Parts: sequence; C-alpha cells; structure tokens
Amino acid sequence: MKGGMKPSIQAYNTPEKAADYHAGLQPGSIRDRMLQVTAQTLRDALPDGGRVLELGAGTGHLTRKILELNHFAEVLPTDGSEEMLSVARNSMPSVPFQLLDYFDPDWSQSFSGIRGVVSSLTFHYHPEKSRLFREIHALLPRGGVLVFADKIAPDHPLQASLFDYENARRWLKRHPLPEEVAEVAQKTEAWNRQSGKHLETASRLLNHLERAGFMAGQLWQEHNHAIFAAVRK
Ligand SMILES: C[S@@+](CC[C@H](N)C(=O)[O-])C[C@H]1O[C@@H](n2cnc3c(N)ncnc32)[C@H](O)[C@@H]1O
Repeated sequence: MKGGMKPSIQAYNTPEKAADYHAGLQPGSIRDRMLQVTAQTLRDALPDGGRVLELGAGTGHLTRKILELNHFAEVLPTDGSEEMLSVARNSMPSVPFQLLDYFDPDWSQSFSGIRGVVSSLTFHYHPEKSRLFREIHALLPRGGVLVFADKIAPDHPLQASLFDYENARRWLKRHPLPEEVAEVAQKTEAWNRQSGKHLETASRLLNHLERAGFMAGQLWQEHNHAIFAAVRK
C-alpha cells in the first residue's frame, strides 16, 4: 500500500474537511467524553515525565486533552494529512505536530525512547490491525503502554441492532422521512466508502493485541465508541 496518498488520509486532506472536523467536537458529547477518558487513562497508566507518541492526531483534539493534564515531558502528535496538521498547528503553535503515515511499513523507525502510544478514531482505517499492533509493540519498552479509542464493529446481533444504521435505513424505507434525513444517511455511506473503513469487533481487537505481545483490556464503551489499554509484555 506504500506510495500514493491513502484514501483515509485523502478524505481528511482538504481545508474544508479539516476546518469542519475541528469545529465539530461538541463539549460533553460521547466523543468529547471518550477523548477525556483516553487522556486520563494514558496519564494513569504511566509515570510522569517521558515521551508519548500520538498516531492520527488530526487537528489535535486528544493532544490538547493530554497536554492539559501536564503529566508527560514530551507529547509527539502525528498525522498523515497536511490540512489537518495545519489546523492543529494554528490552534496550538508551540506543539511539534509532525507529518506521518503510520500505514507505511517503516513508519516507526524515526522514533525512539517512546514510553506510550496513544490514538483516537483512526485505527479503524488501518487494514491490518495485527501488523500495526506488532509495530507498536516493537517500538515500546517492556511495560510501555498503548491506549487507543475507536469505533468498533458489533460483536453480536443485539449489539448490531444497537449500532448499525442499516436498521435505521430499513426503517427509513418503510416510513418516509424528511428528505434531509435520507440525505444524511447517503452522505454517511458515501463517506465510509470514500475513506476506506476497516472496523473490527472489540474481541478481535483484543485478540490482535494479545497475539502481538500485549496484556490488553477494554476499559470503556458508550454506544459504538470504545477505549482499549494494552501493556507491552
Ligand atoms: C476521525 S480523524 C481523528 C482525529 C483525532 N485523533 C481526533 O480524535 O480528533 C482521523 C484521522 O486519521 C488520520 N489518518 C488516517 N489514515 C492515516 C494514516 N495512514 N496515517 C496517519 N494518519 C492517518 C486522518 O488524517 C485524520 O486526521
């Protein structure tokens, strides 16, 4: 997959998308709470000082929450989209946001001394979670920590019926709804196709983590948003 911009980066690499994404975080929303718990979990899992790496940081929503906790000596936020990084740098000029495509096989080679890796709402774009977790494992020392938040796929039919907007779409077919609602559903579907999502269930993610050499657990879930923490064995 090396060479050429990945669809999941391309989808975020326009000034409009970046500005829109940045403005879209509602205080008190599921996403906002999830980012807060992710930042606190990373802090609680590691001693103070040290260097942590953030993958797919986007415009820096999680980065800001981590920095506000004032716990780490260094936070290195990275993203593959120049446009997302440009918004991030404008809103936090003193933070060293770096361009990094973490789907590339050799992405981890430029980092050393990393004690923790953190990420939110981006791993579901990676087509090979087992490879990604092995790469993160190789980057961390024993006892190093990976904390990530992401959307998950349903594990069983009941969860599916709660998560899956297919149900809403079926319902929509039976009950004509205002045009705007159908338009939103169509836009979501088009976005999912364009950006190339590879959602996995919580149990599969935990399985990939264990097999890569982590001791891992799921810490939090609200609707289809979840947080995982993993310690390198
Ligand atoms: C939904 S946004 C999440 C941004 C941020 N983590 C947050 O929670 O607000 C997904 C981000 O993943 C980034 N991304 C997707 N594929 C990537 C890749 N291969 N390498 C680096 N970043 C990637 C996109 O550029 C985008 O900024």
